Amino acid sequence: RRPDALSPDLIGRRVLITAGGTREPLDPVRFLGNRSSGRQGFDLATVAAARGARVTLVAANVDLPPPAGTEVLRVSSTEELREATHGAAKDAEVVIMAAAVADFRPLTRARSKIKKSDAAPTAIELVRNPDVLAELVAGRATGQLNTAVIVGFAAETGDEDGDVLTHGRAKLARKGCDLLVVNAVGEGKAFGQPDNAGVLLGADGSEVQIPLGPKMVLAAAVCDAVAGLLPR
Ligand code: CTP
Ligand code: CA
Repeated sequence: RRPDALSPDLIGRRVLITAGGTREPLDPVRFLGNRSSGRQGFDLATVAAARGARVTLVAANVDLPPPAGTEVLRVSSTEELREATHGAAKDAEVVIMAAAVADFRPLTRARSKIKKSDAAPTAIELVRNPDVLAELVAGRATGQLNTAVIVGFAAETGDEDGDVLTHGRAKLARKGCDLLVVNAVGEGKAFGQPDNAGVLLGADGSEVQIPLGPKMVLAAAVCDAVAGLLPR
């Protein structure tokens, strides 16, 4: 079936979407961040809302206007995104983690601007961030969350350990979500671009290829897959 941006199949469904990229502060003016623009998550929110969903959007550092008919919670760091996401997930039937969440953050955050002083530069010590998606999956497993559908996104590049899809399948199994949207990144692909290509990997073994096209089209395909997984 052709993805349809306006199928009325999400009417009244409560959908939580995270978008953008988190920033981990080093001091009041500096941060470690990533190139996610938030477009894919915002397009998802637009399509889900157009299909009748009640959409909450947790937006990390996204420089885009709120999509029509959605509630937007603006956040910056992973800790802020985590709190907003867990709070909103309590009454969501669907959670789509489209945000690029930092895996690490600086161990310390200077209260005032770091000066270069006369000393030699020091390394930035990093610590692991919690995995919000894994926490959602674990919360559902222990009955704390009733979320029917949990979707992850994975931006992958091929490397010596395998191609984009091999990494995607392993990640789906590791994360334990219902659907993983895998896209190839790097060399001008995906980040900040209006177009995206992807593969939708289902926990049921399904695999749907979405050719390079507008992010809105990939968003519609994700909504189709989500609608198919929702209990009636
Ligand atoms: N994610 C998350 N919390 C994190 C890191 C990632 O919720 N601390 C979510 C992302 O929003 C995304 C999914 O997990 O939906 C996959 O992110 P990705 O970075 O591809 O996976 P990682 O497990 O962090 O693996 P990698 O080592 O490839 O970065
Ligand atoms: Ca990661």
